[in-house]
Amino acid sequence: MSAASNSVRAQAAALPRYAEIRELSLRITGNLSAEDQMLQSMPDASPVKWHLAHTTWFFETFILEPHGKGYKPLDPRYKFAFNSYYKQLGAHPYRGARGLMSRPSLEEVRAYRTHVDSAMSDHVERFGREALALMELGLNHEQQHQELILTDSKHALWSGPLRPETAKSTGPKATAPRLSWIEFEGGIRSVGHQTEAFCFDNECPRHDVLLRPFALASRAVTNGEYMHFIADGGYRRPELWLSEGWDAVSNQRWGAPLYWERSEDGGWVEFANPGMKAVDPAEPVCHISFYEADAYARWSGHRLPTEQEWEVAATQNLSRGTMLEDFVYHPQAGKGDGLQQMFGDVWEWTSSPYVAYPGFVPAPGLIGEYNGKFMCNQMVLRGGSCATPASHIRPTYRNFFPPHIRWQFSGIRLAK
Ligand SMILES: [Fe+2]
Repeated sequence: MSAASNSVRAQAAALPRYAEIRELSLRITGNLSAEDQMLQSMPDASPVKWHLAHTTWFFETFILEPHGKGYKPLDPRYKFAFNSYYKQLGAHPYRGARGLMSRPSLEEVRAYRTHVDSAMSDHVERFGREALALMELGLNHEQQHQELILTDSKHALWSGPLRPETAKSTGPKATAPRLSWIEFEGGIRSVGHQTEAFCFDNECPRHDVLLRPFALASRAVTNGEYMHFIADGGYRRPELWLSEGWDAVSNQRWGAPLYWERSEDGGWVEFANPGMKAVDPAEPVCHISFYEADAYARWSGHRLPTEQEWEVAATQNLSRGTMLEDFVYHPQAGKGDGLQQMFGDVWEWTSSPYVAYPGFVPAPGLIGEYNGKFMCNQMVLRGGSCATPASHIRPTYRNFFPPHIRWQFSGIRLAK
């Protein structure tokens, strides 16, 4: 097959995938009003409307402007307004003030999406390799923002006085499978991405690591298990905590995962999709920081896995739990035997700091700002969550967040 016909095939394949992913962003925001979509409940989170515009800006800035001959922007001011953090493009609005953007309206943001979508469709036949690769990056970027749309809107709706309707508690839906340990041999193992398929630059280069024999828990830590940690004074015992973690517990007055509250009968309720509900002991504990994951692991007499251990285990076992396309936006109890829910349900905190792999080189140019410049003061999470699109995740995928954050769907898998 010639290079030209390969390229035609790639162009033809790109558009349906583009349409599907762009459409999904609108679908998951369909139940939110224009007012809901403008909320920014904390500086870490962004308004849903901003996500819808910024993902569109990405295609306009990185693909249509350099590769779409004759492309005319809908509004040249959006170039500044929806830049997130690309310093080489010049200035951008302050992140914590995104909730002040009443203009453009939600309707205008939707028109911006339509404008860029039709330009992408008009130009795709003339895209070469570089533009097609950027298009794939843009789609993966949009999928990352789909997860953020779900986590940010959850936090925003929880923060207001009129929370969505309280879900009727139906009692625990399932019992968690018994926790067992899955053993892995030590030795020299290869980690990192190596196939032709898409990956982010931070997954490369593939390289060897030396692992000692290790075991992973068959499933994520459950709410029920985490309640024992709380009842045993987990949040009141400094010996269990990293120094910064203990500062966070003291300063933020943490006593349970984010979104948990005491019910009138002394039990626990949590804010979940679609409203407050009784905490189900069988479901994975979620919305906890790295500090809490680390303290729980210490309390239980175990530890968190390294990202290399996690990847070696996940490469041998692609077990999938709940993901975005299940549209429940809430982690579900594990099922069956063996290693479960390595993908989906909750992101799993690892003990690994987010740093460059040996020989890492950021992508050249502007796009090099995507990942590499964040390699400081963050920890790696693996496996995706109930808010991650299934086609977005893989064994080598490295997510990263600062150790104190709790609004992502983050949980714990123990190692020893
Ligand atoms: Fe972004």
